[in-house]
Amino acid sequence: MRLLVTGGAGFIGANFVHSTVRERPAVSVTVLDALTYAGSRESLRPVENDIRLVEGDVTDEPLVDRLVAESDAVVHFAAETHVDNALADPAVFVRSNVVGTFAILEAVRRHGVRVHHISTDEVYGDLPLDPAVRFTAATPLNPSSPYSATKAAADLLVRAWVRSYGVAATMSNCSNNYGPYQHIEKFIPRQITNILSGRRPKLYGAGANVRDWIHVEDHNSAVWRILENGVSGSTYLIGADGERDNLSVLRLILALMGHDADDFDHVVDRSGHDLRYAIDPSALCAELQWAPKHTDLTAGLSSTIEWYRENDWWWGPLKEQVEAHYAERGQ
Ligand code: NAD
Ligand code: TYD
Repeated sequence: MRLLVTGGAGFIGANFVHSTVRERPAVSVTVLDALTYAGSRESLRPVENDIRLVEGDVTDEPLVDRLVAESDAVVHFAAETHVDNALADPAVFVRSNVVGTFAILEAVRRHGVRVHHISTDEVYGDLPLDPAVRFTAATPLNPSSPYSATKAAADLLVRAWVRSYGVAATMSNCSNNYGPYQHIEKFIPRQITNILSGRRPKLYGAGANVRDWIHVEDHNSAVWRILENGVSGSTYLIGADGERDNLSVLRLILALMGHDADDFDHVVDRSGHDLRYAIDPSALCAELQWAPKHTDLTAGLSSTIEWYRENDWWWGPLKEQVEAHYAERGQ
């Protein structure tokens, strides 16, 4: 199988490429990635001799057309992904997330190639703090931020291309991922690397917001299950019953790293901050017999902390600039 992986130099994409090379030697992987600030050749270093990396943009239609024509399937991870960046400068989100998905869809339509579109649970908006309510595939799209609005727009394009043109596409909407190679602008790696570099962790507002954490390897095993057994036109919600409020996650990181529970700063809250995300993954588990393996958050965070401790060559050069950027916004 010739697999085109867009965004394969980013956090989830790079982990996906690593596990694919490790576990599926018959798959030949081409990565298309623009190597934006969020993508890095270094993240693909362990597999650099096993894959082809094409530096390019998903909005570059001739390039996308050529690469799709040479592929049997596409997994489309490429996107701008950080809510705080989208609030500050949304234009690139519209370009990469909406126009980029359009370019992928047009190419797979021309060449009859199957695509799996990677999306987020943030397209459903947020939920109250009521454990009885969770997102399902029937939840209406109701995005809050410029990031989630562009992801919802891309999801709608995929649905329309399936219905109107008979494109063979599956989609998944996953909850918040954590694990190795995640950019240090994101919540968990930011706090870990703050502590490792002698800075104080930063919590937005009171930290009551809830996220539904899943280890990146579980997200990617679900993506493979959908690639192999998913039904075209279906949307699968991926989650691992990992709901925690931000304050609890931060306190767990502090405890695992030997710091006091109050050893952090409260900073300015995010504008329009979604209160709670929570996925009901039962449809995916029942239909495709998928189950997450890394459901112990303490164990998952410990190994993630270890990874950042051992790989400061990967994140160290970015830290100063990322924190300077946050400081400008009072965060
Ligand atoms: P990331 O920001 O770490 O990586 C994104 C990658 O896409 C980078 O390598 C970047 O260079 C590349 N990219 C960006 N714009 C591009 C363009 N125009 N052309 C080509 N490449 C481009 O993101 P991530 O956290 O790995 O997320 C990957 C996908 O998973 C995204 O579609 C995101 O919406 C989705 N998702 C993420 C999470 C999460 O918790 N991180 C949860 C659910 C879904
Ligand atoms: P983030 O990793 O940006 O993901 P999401 O797309 O879900 O917003 O943030 C996760 C949660 O952590 C979110 O509620 C915002 C909060 N947060 C902080 O409290 N401090 C931080 O430094 C960051 C980056 C996020």
